[in-house]
Amino acid sequence: MRFSGKTVVITGAASGIGAQTARLFASEGAKVFASDIDDEEGAALAAEGVGEIRYRHCDVCDPGAIKALLDGAADETGGIDIVFNNAGAGGAREDIGEIEPDAWDRTMDLLLRSVAMGIRYAVPHMKGRKGASIVNVSSVAAAGPGYSPTAYAVAKAGVLHLTKCAATDLAQHGIRVNAIQPGFINTNIFTTSLEIDGEMKAMAKAAIAQMSSNAQPVARGGQADDIAQAVAFLASDAASFVTGASLVVDGGITLGPRHSWDPETPGMFAALEAMEQQLTNGGQQPG
Ligand SMILES: NC(=O)c1ccc[n+]([C@@H]2O[C@H](COP(=O)([O-])OP(=O)(O)OC[C@H]3O[C@@H](n4cnc5c(N)ncnc54)[C@H](O)[C@@H]3O)[C@@H](O)[C@H]2O)c1
Repeated sequence: MRFSGKTVVITGAASGIGAQTARLFASEGAKVFASDIDDEEGAALAAEGVGEIRYRHCDVCDPGAIKALLDGAADETGGIDIVFNNAGAGGAREDIGEIEPDAWDRTMDLLLRSVAMGIRYAVPHMKGRKGASIVNVSSVAAAGPGYSPTAYAVAKAGVLHLTKCAATDLAQHGIRVNAIQPGFINTNIFTTSLEIDGEMKAMAKAAIAQMSSNAQPVARGGQADDIAQAVAFLASDAASFVTGASLVVDGGITLGPRHSWDPETPGMFAALEAMEQQLTNGGQQPG
């Protein structure tokens, strides 16, 4: 029960990494405010009955909504101990030679400004609280090009630098700030943006599960719980001397993707693109 009596706020908690992290914190005694834009899945998470999880609607592209979420959680419980800035999606897919300013801005708002404002509006409620800790989701995409589209990679690299700057700014208030860099984790993020349903979606999910097992040196797919466990460590008192750090949890993908030594396994991004192309062709292999 590492988080007994603590108030935890999580964004993007209706699915994947956020949902599993909410379950973990709640199972260890925290009061968890799980927020998302997917109200149906968010309510279902709260109804699972794992500890104390309260669902709140919050679109992280709206700074006012982030402030309302954090103010509300603090009003209800007397303050905030842990924030997990997690919400995200794939963002704009165009390369830098084609992307339009609006698409760039939308991706930055979703993946980078959301984290900055998640910190900004949490600070007044965290100052001076023992063990106060913020964890931000970056990605292995911040380690270099080739893991994701460009705008996503740049935003996630920004999250790493933001984490270091915030850790420096907030140490005086006793608030630690760290980041996590997940590798290829088998969640809905890869299929949410695809305009497919039913059988096609099930096919896509099966393909992702297969790809995620082959993407990295560790020969199994990354799971949301792999990330939740690492987030809980960074947020816990066991990490009380850790701030401004980033923990890479990727089954070794950044050491050298599996396709660098296994010719049967395509690169992750290439494989995803091939899958999407196949799906848009109605399940046919591209010619
Ligand atoms: N899955 C991976 O391989 C992977 C790798 C590196 C980083 N990440 C990051 O981890 C985080 C969680 O992703 P996941 O894999 O669990 O994906 P997921 O799709 O399972 O969950 C993402 C959640 O964020 C929510 N969300 C999307 N836009 C939002 C918005 N504007 N406001 C509030 N909530 C919003 C979605 O509704 C969803 O519930 C993301 O920031 C993602 O970029 C994931």
